[in-house]
Amino acid sequence: MWIFSLCLFLGSLVSSGLGLEFRYHNSVQVQQYLKDISANYSDFTHLHSIGRSVEGRELWVLILGQHPREHRPGIPEFKYVGNMHGNEVVGRVLLLQLIDHLTQSYLRDPFVTRLLNSTRIHILPSMNPDGFEAATRDCLYSQGRFNKNGVDLNRNFPDAFSGNSGQVREKEVVAVMEWIQNETFVLSANLHGGAVVASYAYDNSNGGRELQGSASVTPDDDVFIHLAKTYSLKHTSMHKGNSCPDSKDFSYGITNGYKWYPLKGGMQDYNYVWGQCLEITLELSCCKFPPESDLQDLWEANKPALLAYMQQVHLGLKGQVLDTNGVPVENASVEVQGRRNLCPFRTNHNGEYYRLLLPGKYTITVTCPGHKTLIETVSVPYGLDEFSAKTHNFQIQKIVSSTVPGMTAPTCVTPRPRSSENHSAALLPNTITALIALTIHRLLVSLDRKLF
Ligand SMILES: *[C@@H]1O[C@H](CO)[C@@H](O)[C@H](O)[C@H]1NC(C)=O
Ligand SMILES: *[C@@H]1O[C@H](CO)[C@@H](O)[C@H](O)[C@H]1NC(C)=O
Ligand SMILES: *[C@@H]1O[C@H](CO)[C@@H](O)[C@H](O)[C@H]1NC(C)=O
Ligand SMILES: *[C@@H]1O[C@H](CO)[C@@H](O)[C@H](O)[C@H]1NC(C)=O
Ligand SMILES: *[C@@H]1O[C@H](CO)[C@@H](O)[C@H](O)[C@H]1NC(C)=O
Ligand SMILES: [Zn+2]
Repeated sequence: MWIFSLCLFLGSLVSSGLGLEFRYHNSVQVQQYLKDISANYSDFTHLHSIGRSVEGRELWVLILGQHPREHRPGIPEFKYVGNMHGNEVVGRVLLLQLIDHLTQSYLRDPFVTRLLNSTRIHILPSMNPDGFEAATRDCLYSQGRFNKNGVDLNRNFPDAFSGNSGQVREKEVVAVMEWIQNETFVLSANLHGGAVVASYAYDNSNGGRELQGSASVTPDDDVFIHLAKTYSLKHTSMHKGNSCPDSKDFSYGITNGYKWYPLKGGMQDYNYVWGQCLEITLELSCCKFPPESDLQDLWEANKPALLAYMQQVHLGLKGQVLDTNGVPVENASVEVQGRRNLCPFRTNHNGEYYRLLLPGKYTITVTCPGHKTLIETVSVPYGLDEFSAKTHNFQIQKIVSSTVPGMTAPTCVTPRPRSSENHSAALLPNTITALIALTIHRLLVSLDRKLF
């Protein structure tokens, strides 16, 4: 009897032909579903765990693409992360529906086929499975938001603007940080709930030159605005900007993160500053844990946006930095004039770089210790229809010099955020700045108790 009901219970995940059911699946069911998917579609999917939650649940990531098991030069890496706040459950549901859609449409639907042939897509449906299991089905309250240790994972990442390097990192955050280091992610989104808006970096500031009016502006603001608008304009209602009864009026349904409310230790700033991955935060429903009867409409509202957003990974430029012998150069920095990133974007171990840019002309500076600096101007066309950024390789020349015997040639170094000019806490941990930021943060939290 017990076995019979277990079969019934697992068998009911997928009603044949109709796809994944529109309901909430617990962590055991999600794991079973992902294992079934990776077994049924092993040619173009690969399932792996990036670590475990505090309570020991696996953090499953499904990878989809023509070569799901490894990175191939020229194929950009994309990711979606859901359910970082355990009680914000819509992203988790949508990402499972997205997996269902992509697996059923590959080699059938031309858009999905081209997308999966040109992109390696990583999906983490739940970054906080312990929080999900603890959550109550409530629109507003925060039960289940935190991980098992009571920590808000979206405040637990290293922060470029405030010296929080001494903070204890939670297991879920350590796993995601290692994942970001392992893969050359180019574009990402982090799915939340409690509002309907697309929010983009920065989420924090220390009053340096990034602070422009009430916004904390990145050097890639134009690209971030484009990315956020891509999502909101393809969404059935997000672009209207006032979907929720208590919401601010978000023009086009997008906002600079800091301008909405400052937060430190967030995942999107970490991705951008240290991971050279442009990430936006998507708030997808007024109600954090909506009734199951709303889920199908939520999927229909988000599906075109989720698909169009992934295609943006093909904006701009990509290629390799090679030396005069054609050998890839690792850790070379590839910088775009006028975009002084806190950590310069650097090439991976294949000498590859990816740079999301809107169409236009850009001057690129390639530097690597021991090599001559190379400056080239490149025209970036609109490449989305091709499902490929423009490929442009750079060839840099070694400086033939009399190195001191016994001294190894200098190599490019690990990125550490450079000063955002005035008071960079990352370089000069400034307790007063940190205290002021904390006080302002506390004040804002107490003024507006609603968390997203
Ligand atoms: C996997 O394939 C089996 C056998 O065809 C099928 O019964 C099951 O529904 C499939 N599951 C998923 C998640 O695709
Ligand atoms: C995508 O890749 C598959 C498998 O290699 C191939 O059969 C198919 O023709 C490709 N389709 C497109 C549109 O690139
Ligand atoms: C990162 O890569 C290392 C070495 O390949 C591997 O052992 C580890 O499991 C990976 N971690 C994650 C989170 O992907
Ligand atoms: C590139 O940087 C990484 C991280 O700082 C380092 O581990 C690696 O050895 C560097 N590679 C080269 C070729 O300098
Ligand atoms: C630093 O701050 C001072 C006053 O706070 C301002 O006058 C100056 O322009 C700032 N410098 C830079 C480089 O932002
Ligand atoms: Zn959230």
